[in-house]
Amino acid sequence: MKTTSKIIKEIIFGHVGACIVLLCIVPVFFTAYGLYRGFEIKVEQISDPSDEEDLIVVGFSQLGSESGWRSAHTASIQQALTKDAGYFLIFNNARQMQDNQIKAIRSFISQRVDYIVFAPVIEDGWDTVLLEAKNAKIPVIVTDRKVNVQDDSLYTAWIGMDAKEEGKKAGKWLESYLEQEQRQTEEINIVVLKGTVGSTAEIGRTKGFAEIAARHRNWNILESVTAEFTANKAKEVMRDMLRRYPEMDVLISQNDDMTIGAIDAMQEAGISFGEEGDITIISFDATRDALELVKEGRINVDVECNPVQGTYVNEIIQKLENGESVQKYYVVEEKVFTKENVAEFLKDRKY
Ligand code: AHR
Repeated sequence: MKTTSKIIKEIIFGHVGACIVLLCIVPVFFTAYGLYRGFEIKVEQISDPSDEEDLIVVGFSQLGSESGWRSAHTASIQQALTKDAGYFLIFNNARQMQDNQIKAIRSFISQRVDYIVFAPVIEDGWDTVLLEAKNAKIPVIVTDRKVNVQDDSLYTAWIGMDAKEEGKKAGKWLESYLEQEQRQTEEINIVVLKGTVGSTAEIGRTKGFAEIAARHRNWNILESVTAEFTANKAKEVMRDMLRRYPEMDVLISQNDDMTIGAIDAMQEAGISFGEEGDITIISFDATRDALELVKEGRINVDVECNPVQGTYVNEIIQKLENGESVQKYYVVEEKVFTKENVAEFLKDRKY
């Protein structure tokens, strides 16, 4: 027969005890979790646009975070559309997926934002969602890349680069460089690292460069391969190209991140490049890191793509708020950087 003290010990240390302990701990845990969740919900409520009635609510769908240029573009929008400037900014990163951008835009519509700003990953496929925004009477401002839509009234304004002109600038630079080197009649073997296929930057830079290349029968474009605007992919692609095309003279890399990846691959393979080397490098973007390489003569030329577009977005929204009309297209100013002129711009380069 169990004594009372034995029964008490079993309650404390045995199965019954374990159950009692669990029965005590579980509600405490859930209460604590509930409080935690409650806190979380409270934070969301604090940041609910409806609490910020005087602010202009902007939903911004950024296509991703693939490059240094992209970070600068995101920062430019975030720095222009601040609370102090009168905005409530809802940011969404689509991670290179058009579907994610479409979902984000639909969520901005259902949240009844005042404006939608977005940087489209590719040009095609926006008609339906932009019609939904138009029907909801939400002005859409497209930034960076373009959209290819049947009806241009589906968006209010576009701010971005002239990508075709950038491609032409690259071609014209190569023309004058080869002339200067007295290599105008030599066979010039060119490899192209392309950005995201179907994006304005890829379409425009490819077309622009091809237009100049068409004037030169001795320019051979050996291959154009996408490395999706990223350094890692470019390193991989370049390793393969170096193995397949030992005769390569010129690398056209459609952004600085890919250029940096390609340089890694060239260094790994012991191949020289830049002003003193075997492979001439033409890059796009002109981010700080790449301009340092231009200064050192490791990249021959960098055609600028200007990411500072937030100020334009702010100006457009302010005009619309005041009932003023806005232009349909705004093209940002862009330069070409070589060793000769880079130093004076490098000192003020923020990105
Ligand atoms: O659309 C602009 C391009 O996209 C930039 O050249 C590139 O760096 C970015 O990812």
